[in-house]
Amino acid sequence: MPSTTVNGRHILKQHATGYPIPGTTTVYDTSERLDLDNVALNGGVLAKLVILSIDPYLLHSVSPGSPMEQAAETCSSEAYGSDRINGMGIVKVVRSEDPAYKVGEYFTSSLSRARLTSSSDHQEYSVFSKEQLSSLQHLKPENGLPLSVYLGAAGAGARSRFIPSLFKMYQPCIPSGLTAFAGWEEFSNAKKGDTVFVSTAAGAVGSIVVQLAQNQGLKIIGSAGSDDKVKYLKQLGVDVAFNYKTTDTREALEKDGPVDIYWDNVGRDTLDAAVENATSGARVIICGAMSSYNGETTAGVKNLIHVTFKSIVLYGLSYFDIAHKHDAKFKETVIPKLADGTFKYLEDRKFGLDKAPQAILDVQNGANFGKSVIVVGDE
Ligand SMILES: NC(=O)c1ccc[n+]([C@@H]2O[C@H](COP(=O)([O-])OP(=O)(O)OC[C@H]3O[C@@H](n4cnc5c(N)ncnc54)[C@H](OP(=O)(O)O)[C@@H]3O)[C@@H](O)[C@H]2O)c1
Repeated sequence: MPSTTVNGRHILKQHATGYPIPGTTTVYDTSERLDLDNVALNGGVLAKLVILSIDPYLLHSVSPGSPMEQAAETCSSEAYGSDRINGMGIVKVVRSEDPAYKVGEYFTSSLSRARLTSSSDHQEYSVFSKEQLSSLQHLKPENGLPLSVYLGAAGAGARSRFIPSLFKMYQPCIPSGLTAFAGWEEFSNAKKGDTVFVSTAAGAVGSIVVQLAQNQGLKIIGSAGSDDKVKYLKQLGVDVAFNYKTTDTREALEKDGPVDIYWDNVGRDTLDAAVENATSGARVIICGAMSSYNGETTAGVKNLIHVTFKSIVLYGLSYFDIAHKHDAKFKETVIPKLADGTFKYLEDRKFGLDKAPQAILDVQNGANFGKSVIVVGDE
């Protein structure tokens, strides 16, 4: 009788409308068992999940019809006929039938719709068949940074421009570090004396943007959703940090603006307030829209006429389009700064895949403090 191991999985139980409900929308499931020594590899590898990244975009996996899911066009029928949830993770090879993938080596693993029927990134063990190995990127931890940071602040690895038509098959990793760096390099056009406003400034992407702006000596205004996060922003050296839940963003920008660059992670009212308080020729980098992903509100952006009269330029930041151009410079310049402590990073670490349902909600409602990761196995 072969011995089998529980292969814990984080699976979709019931689609959410709006925010997911931990334990109802998604659950931790222990019904699957795997014979680790004998499971067929078909020329591929058996890998163990070590770290799982919990990102805002996971909402589109569990909430069909949400604005996030509609924009990403990921509601492919095969995706929603499945209980699998996919995303970014770091896996360690346990068995291998391919010499290029050695036992003990680490790889970043990204969502691959092609694997939906056989395996998922949100499970403790996965078999990657020979054809599926392309969704793994070799990861050599360097500079003493913890592995998990390679899914967040030090996360990189864009090989080429991603072709949107392949989205339904493969979704590459979209780590926060390179998202921030690529967007900043590509669109900020930062000049000496500029004032920058960053929303969700204490978050995974926002906190790196803040430090890139700081590195250029710019004045920084940062908003966040709790006093603890505001305190952290002040520790980072943000010039004006405020809690947008207790201080009106418009008033804060009227007082400490106007802004030459706005990094938008939030959308709606915050975007309105920013364009109202932007300088002529300001750059607005639209990275995300946290305030509307759940689709619970219909309030929209009202002040775009300021874009016309002030010749403001709005940039839509799509990681898939620009990351590959900035990957090498990011690795040369930002990762060493993270390693030597010049750049700071915060992680919101949870332990055990059973924490995934709650972690998805936490990122949506701001209960996370730092880049959200789940430590699943030994690092
Ligand atoms: N364009 C791209 O290619 C790309 C790639 C990666 C990420 N992104 C986007 O970048 C943004 C930040 O992602 P992240 O991974 O760094 O997440 P994160 O900032 O670490 O976590 C999400 C944060 O959003 C904030 N938030 C939630 N609801 C909000 C609301 N109604 N109004 C204002 N803020 C709200 C919360 O912070 P507070 O406590 O401060 O409210 C929460 O902690 C997201 O919009 C994400 O979709 C875009």
